[in-house]
Amino acid sequence: MIAIYPGSFDPITYGHLDIITRCSKKFDKVIVAVLNNQNKKVVFSIEDRVAMIKELTSEYPNVQVDNFDGLLIDYAKKKEADVIIRGLRAVSDYEYEMQMSLYNKQLYPEIETMFLVSDTKYSYLSSSIVKEIASYHGDISSFVPPLVEVKINSKYRCE
Ligand code: PNS
Repeated sequence: MIAIYPGSFDPITYGHLDIITRCSKKFDKVIVAVLNNQNKKVVFSIEDRVAMIKELTSEYPNVQVDNFDGLLIDYAKKKEADVIIRGLRAVSDYEYEMQMSLYNKQLYPEIETMFLVSDTKYSYLSSSIVKEIASYHGDISSFVPPLVEVKINSKYRCE
């Protein structure tokens, strides 16, 4: 089974990494698909986001990291993926995630979306809040791996 784990990953957090690690144990292949959308405001370039994830997942031989633009289902078809993986942190995620999975199912009935409930340790983690904390020079070391911490701090501390 091939799973696609899509997202903006701006940047990757321990919560995302936990989902990738768990998926790598359940699926033959996991494709971490990083959204490359010119209209979405991001802090990290697509190259930086992909490079960080590649480095952090290098120990998992069945995990690939790629970027995509356009519709997720078109990318999923091209990659012959069986499932889309999304992490669910809290009830607040549910509405948006359900809507997205229903659209994707309508557009491409062969694809299933599977939700992994986030580990309680990471149920509050979000890339946006981590960036906000970093922008005020707060300590983000418990939210992101050291290499990501260095990258975020270099964005905000030389301003
Ligand atoms: O990490 P995010 O930002 O919550 O991820 C959202 C993502 C990338 C999964 C979603 O925006 C997406 O799939 N975008 C690609 C365009 C698309 O297929 N849109 C229709 C989804 S219903």
